Amino acid sequence: MTVSYTELGFVNTKAMFEKAMKEGYAVPAYNFNNMEQLQAIITACFESRSPVILQVSKGARQYANATLLRWMGRGAIEMMKEMGNPVPVALHLDHGDSFELCKDCIDSGFSSVMIDGSHLPYEENIALAKKVVEYAHPRNVTVEAELGVLAGIEDEVSADHHTYTDPAQVEDFVKRTGVDSLAISIGTSHGAYKFKVKPGESVPPLRFDILEEVSRRIPGFPIVLHGASSVDQRAVAQINKYGGKLDNAVGVPEDQLRKAAKSAVCKINVDSDGRLVMTAAVRKVFVETPAEFDPRKYLGPARTDLIAMYKEKNENVLGSSNRY
Ligand code: G3H
Ligand code: 13P
Ligand code: ZN
Repeated sequence: MTVSYTELGFVNTKAMFEKAMKEGYAVPAYNFNNMEQLQAIITACFESRSPVILQVSKGARQYANATLLRWMGRGAIEMMKEMGNPVPVALHLDHGDSFELCKDCIDSGFSSVMIDGSHLPYEENIALAKKVVEYAHPRNVTVEAELGVLAGIEDEVSADHHTYTDPAQVEDFVKRTGVDSLAISIGTSHGAYKFKVKPGESVPPLRFDILEEVSRRIPGFPIVLHGASSVDQRAVAQINKYGGKLDNAVGVPEDQLRKAAKSAVCKINVDSDGRLVMTAAVRKVFVETPAEFDPRKYLGPARTDLIAMYKEKNENVLGSSNRY
C-alpha cells in the first residue's frame, strides 16, 4: 500500500534546513531501531523544542519491519500531540543503496531519503542520485546524496581511508542531480573508533578548509555531516566498568561539532552515541542487579539516559533547542 508522508504527520527537510541555515544551527538526525530509542528521540526533541530527523537505515528497516516502522513513526507524532504542540519531524532513509530501496521508502511514508552513491564513480553517482530525485521530487520528498567517502564502514560499503570531498565537483554535482542536501567527507567516520590516537593525544581537526570551500562554491546549500558522534568517554568508561571492552573508542570533539553546526552544515548524523549510552545503561543494570529479568527494568533506564544525552546534544552542541 502506498502512503504519503503527510498522512503520517511528517515533513520533508526543506523548511527545516532553510531555518537552520538562516539561524546558524544544525538539525539532529538520530537513528532508531526500536521503541525505546524512538521514544527517547521524540521526548528529548519535544522537550527541547528541536526539529528532528528520524533516521532509519536499511538494516533498521529489516530489523524492525517496514510496516511496523511506519506506524511507530505515526505513533510518535500522535504521542507528541498528546503532550502539546509537536515539533517538526522528518522520516529519513539513511544510506539508501539503491533506487528501489529509496522508492520503497518514499512509497511507504518516508519524507526524505539518502541515496548513497559515494563509492561509485562520479558519473554513476550523479546518474543514480538524479534518478532518485526524479521519483522523489514530484512527491515532495527531499533527497540527500554524498560526495567523497568516509573512512570506516558505510553500511555494507567499506572504505579503509577517507576520500575527502573535492570542492571542485560540488557545484556540478548539485546542479546535475537536483538533490536537496549534500553529505561531504571532511574527516569524520562512522562508529565508535573514529581516530587512532594514543591516550592523552588530541584528535586531528576536521577539514574545515574543505567545508568552507564547498560552501563558497554552493552558497546557502545544506551540507550534511555523517559520522558525527562524539563518543562520550563517560559512556565508554561505564561500558568498560561493567564488563564491556571498548578500547580506544574516540569520537569527534564537541567543539568541532559546535563550529560545524554554525556553518553551512544543516544536518548532523548521530547513531553511535545512542548505542553507547544504551549499552552502558543496560550493562550497569545487569551487573548491579543480576537477578533482574524484566526488560522494562533495563530498557527503561537506558531510555532515561538516552533522553538526557539527546537533550544535551540539542542544547549544547547542535544549537537546535528552542527553535519551535
Ligand atoms: O551510518 C550508519 C548508521 O549508523 C546505521 O547503521 O546500518 O548498523 O543500522 P546500521
Ligand atoms: P556515527 O556512527 O558517528 O553515530 O554516525 C552515524 C551516521 O552517520 C548515520 O548515518
Ligand atoms: Zn552515515
